[in-house]
Amino acid sequence: MDSEWQKELAVPAAKLANGEQIAFPTETVYGLGANACDDEAVKGIFAAKGRPSDNPLIVHIYDKRQVYELVSHVGRMAERLMETFWPGPLTIILPVKQGILSALVTSGLDTVGIRMPDHAVALELMRQAAVPVAAPSANTSGRPSPTVAAHVYTDLSGKIAGIVDGGPTGVGLESTVVELVDETHIQVLRPGGVTLEQLQICCPEAQITMDIELLSQEAPRSPGMKYTHYAPQGQLTVVQGEPEAVSAYIQEQLVLYGNAHRCGVLFFDEHEHYESRASLALSLGSMHELEQAAARLYDALRQFDEQRIEYIWSEASTTAGIGAAFMNRLLKASGHQVIKV
Ligand code: TXA
Ligand code: MG
Repeated sequence: MDSEWQKELAVPAAKLANGEQIAFPTETVYGLGANACDDEAVKGIFAAKGRPSDNPLIVHIYDKRQVYELVSHVGRMAERLMETFWPGPLTIILPVKQGILSALVTSGLDTVGIRMPDHAVALELMRQAAVPVAAPSANTSGRPSPTVAAHVYTDLSGKIAGIVDGGPTGVGLESTVVELVDETHIQVLRPGGVTLEQLQICCPEAQITMDIELLSQEAPRSPGMKYTHYAPQGQLTVVQGEPEAVSAYIQEQLVLYGNAHRCGVLFFDEHEHYESRASLALSLGSMHELEQAAARLYDALRQFDEQRIEYIWSEASTTAGIGAAFMNRLLKASGHQVIKV
């Protein structure tokens, strides 16, 4: 017997199965879903987001067994990762089986990214729709990913068939995307909700690598990593260094710019709070609980836009644990504009 919340998903699930685009919550960010086997449905995702069609989409499943219908080979390491992290924020790139998914999902590549989200609403919606669901983040291309239904509404209202509101997402940053180079080598293409440390514990004998560009000051040059930038309308600068030096630098900038411009700051609770000089100073929480910073980042970037902030300075975190994903997104949002003090 289905309960009330499950019954409420019948209409959006039917729309999803029939080729329409539905936004739904996951444990990372809201996704914009469509039937991954239907070309027209998938086209609708790219159109609603204004997304370049050569950036492939992640396919979401509600049952691990679906993976064997969608891909041509699942190795032992992939199986171990699926067992350990699914449902959860890990996307695994696997060789696609021909003739099942829309070619628009993979943008013509011979691989597909698959994940099983750890969210009861997402799983139930897909179970009722009974199709694999292609879903990028449910934002306008280039904007921060949505962590509450209102963000989706702001970006996509009028362009999609519906939004399932499941409250705030948990992690707040997208899934970790991994490619399995061979049975001994995991390449992290995007740091995310599953940390490098967790991957290493799961696969102790494996070599785990990540392109240094993903956490550096240099803008990435490799294709596929060039699109999403989350950039706020104001100019964002990441300030790295010892806490006192960072605070002093930001205070100085606020004195210089604060009278003539609307200025914003992102800070950790242990440091200066900047409220008196900034138009909008937002806390990332404690620097020792970076899960909170991760969960707050995208909403903060959107708040700076709403308040028409022109210059933003952000403190930096370590790159341990979820810090790698947090710093990767912060650096992208800043267009890799970093000041070392
Ligand atoms: O947490 C998430 O992953 C969210 C939620 C909705 O599940 N989805 C998401 O999708 O972030 P999207 O489309 O915004 O990001 C997908 C990422 C992109 O960086 C894309 O280039 C990469 O995955 N990707 C997808 N398929 C790929 C493939 N076959 N090879 C390499 N990279 C791939
Ligand atoms: Mg995205």
